[in-house]
Amino acid sequence: MCGIVGIVQQQETKIGKTIIEALTKLEYRGYDSVGIASIFDNKVIITKDQGKISEVSERIDVNSIKGKIAIGHTRWATHGPPSKENAHPHIDCSGEISVIHNGIIENFQALKEELLNQGHEFQSETDTEVIPHMLEQLVKKEGISLKDAIIQVSKRLEGTFAICVVSSLEPDRIYCAKRDSPLVIGINSDRMFCASDIPAFLSKTRKVVLLHDDEFVTLTSDGYEIINFNTLEKVVRKPHTVSWKPEMAQKAGFPHFMLKEIHEQPNSLADYIRIQQPALTRIAEKIYNSEKIFLLAAGTAHYSTLTGESLIRKYVKKPSSAIIASEYESIKSLIDEDTVILPVSQSGETMDTIMAIKSAKEQGASILSAVNVIGSTITRYSDEVLYLYAGPEIGVAATKTYTAQTLAMWDIGLELGKLSGEIDNSEYTAARKLFQEIPTVVKQTIVRNESRANHIASWFAKKNSSFYLGRGLNLQTANEGALKMKEIAYIHSESYPAGESKHGPIALVEEDYPVVFVSPKDHTHSRIISNIMEMKARGAAIVAVIEEGDREIEEMGKWKFEIPKGYSEMLSTIPYIVPLQLLAYYTAVRKNLSPDMPRNLAKAVSVL
Ligand code: AGP
Repeated sequence: MCGIVGIVQQQETKIGKTIIEALTKLEYRGYDSVGIASIFDNKVIITKDQGKISEVSERIDVNSIKGKIAIGHTRWATHGPPSKENAHPHIDCSGEISVIHNGIIENFQALKEELLNQGHEFQSETDTEVIPHMLEQLVKKEGISLKDAIIQVSKRLEGTFAICVVSSLEPDRIYCAKRDSPLVIGINSDRMFCASDIPAFLSKTRKVVLLHDDEFVTLTSDGYEIINFNTLEKVVRKPHTVSWKPEMAQKAGFPHFMLKEIHEQPNSLADYIRIQQPALTRIAEKIYNSEKIFLLAAGTAHYSTLTGESLIRKYVKKPSSAIIASEYESIKSLIDEDTVILPVSQSGETMDTIMAIKSAKEQGASILSAVNVIGSTITRYSDEVLYLYAGPEIGVAATKTYTAQTLAMWDIGLELGKLSGEIDNSEYTAARKLFQEIPTVVKQTIVRNESRANHIASWFAKKNSSFYLGRGLNLQTANEGALKMKEIAYIHSESYPAGESKHGPIALVEEDYPVVFVSPKDHTHSRIISNIMEMKARGAAIVAVIEEGDREIEEMGKWKFEIPKGYSEMLSTIPYIVPLQLLAYYTAVRKNLSPDMPRNLAKAVSVL
């Protein structure tokens, strides 16, 4: 996820300053590098560098960027680590066509191959850079107009994109095109804006036009023209006036980043699935051929590794353990060159995990990581990295990065099952079909359970302690659900193996004591029913996360959350957490707490 903006205006101003102001409002979309392309004296001027917007705008003299037209970009690295070369805007060999992009070009390798064979020279590792060179090939070599070239290129790109193009060949306009990535237009009488999101220009205008997929826009200082780039038909779309306050706008109308990020999960999971990572096969093969496998993480990330631990044991039949990073000492004596370490981390900066990795590396272990932030410290210590592509997570409490981590664990697990033959071809095909459908299932789960979570939260908010119970794979889900309730609603919530609760913890249960059961219709179902009955007999109020239509457990519960059928065994640890994310969020809101900035917590814990 990146932030893009563009301005075309009638007056010449210090346009660089306005672009930076607009990008700052989009920093929540990405912040590892920044750049501006402006046109002055009929030349394209590119100014860009690695670093946050505040850092880069100090380094470059923003006030020196003058003119009537410019585009700007704040990056969240996907293809190629954060660097000046990989920062947008990108430009063609002639230096006359510049492009910024938000999205993922799935077929960029083939396109790059074709362009290299045509003699184009690349400056970056990004997928985006194929676009200006494709445009150059059509305009310079085949004599096609820039507009027609952008339309042709838009139809060849596979994946997601919102692009803005400026060129010294046509210095009075910005061309935009979009598919799946967001793009909006802001309208003033003598100035037009385009951006990934409304906050970029909300302080300048509230008149907005939202663009739809496969639309192409020509922006000039006095107007805009929209066409569908497949049919070439003109699109008439009137602007509407946005009533949002600026701080609401960054959350796309959601009251908190945490709720926005819970709702982003269908898209963030789809982005992970969309990018084929060659590292996946290499990681699976190294795990398959190793003698000892330890997963290393902290907090929420540790819970995601429990899926990895279970699947490695199931499919590779070798000792595999999910170790809390700060407890690395407990396995240190076992580490040698036959050991594989799998660190999992959203930030890639968790000091507990980094210290463990450094020690393991010194002892000869292979480091195969799953990380969200490209270029982060953990990625630099890793022999292989599987990226999560969840985009920036602003809420301190992990939500979309947890489901991305867990999806990556399932991705590795399915490859291991195929390698070991524990999953035959038809089972693998069926599992991959479910895998592809995960974004849709998570979307359905959110729609089905959000208002229910808000309702149950009014009851849960009055409680001061609770149990979260699960069995097998979904003990992980109970762990993460309880952590969310602790972290943001400040209610002591203890997760436990459901079968273990009768060995002591049940002593705490009294009338209406909340006990959350994560109870998919898998092989643990009948045992979970016994555990529910044990708790009910002591007066517990049962909150059950069940497969839709599971009447048996439904009738035993005070409250229920329902998950679409087909995900009780395979991939269950992804949809089954979603209602518990929502429950924790709405409970915090009911208690008038701040879900985005819970007390005592930091987004990246870079201390031991
Ligand atoms: C997540 O809700 C927590 N804030 C925290 O436990 C987090 O998961 C942990 O600090 C690990 O962070 P990482 O994924 O960035 O390594």
